[in-house]
Amino acid sequence: MNKQFLILVFGLNLHAVTAYTNGMVTLACTSMTPNHRNNTASILKPPYRVTTDVSKYTAGQVIKVTLQANETGFRGFLLQARDETGPVGTFTVTGNDAQLLNCGTAGSAVSHTSNVNKSTIVALWKAPNNNNTDIRFRATFVQNFSLFWVDVQSDPVRFVGTNTTVTSPHGSSPSVSLTIYLLLLPLLAII
Ligand SMILES: *[C@@H]1O[C@H](CO)[C@@H](O)[C@H](O)[C@H]1NC(C)=O
Ligand SMILES: *[C@@H]1O[C@H](CO)[C@@H](O)[C@H](O)[C@H]1NC(C)=O
Ligand SMILES: *[C@@H]1O[C@H](CO)[C@@H](O)[C@H](O)[C@H]1NC(C)=O
Ligand SMILES: *[C@@H]1O[C@H](CO)[C@@H](O)[C@H](O)[C@H]1NC(C)=O
Ligand SMILES: *[C@@H]1O[C@H](CO)[C@@H](O)[C@H](O)[C@H]1NC(C)=O
Ligand SMILES: *[C@@H]1O[C@H](CO)[C@@H](O)[C@H](O)[C@H]1NC(C)=O
Repeated sequence: MNKQFLILVFGLNLHAVTAYTNGMVTLACTSMTPNHRNNTASILKPPYRVTTDVSKYTAGQVIKVTLQANETGFRGFLLQARDETGPVGTFTVTGNDAQLLNCGTAGSAVSHTSNVNKSTIVALWKAPNNNNTDIRFRATFVQNFSLFWVDVQSDPVRFVGTNTTVTSPHGSSPSVSLTIYLLLLPLLAII
């Protein structure tokens, strides 16, 4: 396939499917809503899910996030981790279907790279080292130009504490140290 043909094909799809087939959708960082003329987000139950491999996290932890189509694939998407203030943390992606966007800070969002039909996207998200709170992953899924879902949310991922550098003389594992720390928290509060 030569280059001109590719440009022609993508140029046509630009109108047929989505306004931003290249996924450079930083204009939608805040609203997470595609600007598809007068089309508005679907109020039907989304046929897509946002899931995580953990339900709680500590500072700096890496969490695996999965966007999954139930049946019909999606062509565009936008993914962020949000607390009360907006997008937080930093994503990394693998493969050709996803890319990082700057929605305030580099890598704070993930989007599509083309309008190919996708059924699964996996991204890794690294929590900030400071100022963490409970978060949810939020995604927009574009099935086609007139049919899309905004603010499809994961279950909340609870912030359970900052890692401590407490080292036990018996060389306990990090998870044991964390457990001890969490057990000590109420005691500290009483003192
Ligand atoms: C949306 O725009 C299309 C043409 O672009 C028009 O036919 C349709 O009536 C509009 N729908 C609404 C709800 O405004
Ligand atoms: C997923 O697809 C199956 C088969 O069509 C359907 O029965 C089910 O309700 C769908 N679930 C969601 C969450 O859309
Ligand atoms: C905190 O611990 C998690 C594992 O529980 C680890 O993945 C992460 O890198 C640690 N964060 C820092 C800032 O050391
Ligand atoms: C899009 O992908 C889904 C899931 O892989 C598949 O079921 C569906 O048939 C595909 N649709 C098109 C138009 O390729
Ligand atoms: C954490 O929050 C405090 C108070 O809101 C702020 O001054 C500080 O810059 C924040 N630190 C980071 C690393 O964002
Ligand atoms: C989008 O998909 C829906 C459901 O399959 C269909 O009814 C609608 O015509 C499609 N719209 C466009 C612009 O392809």
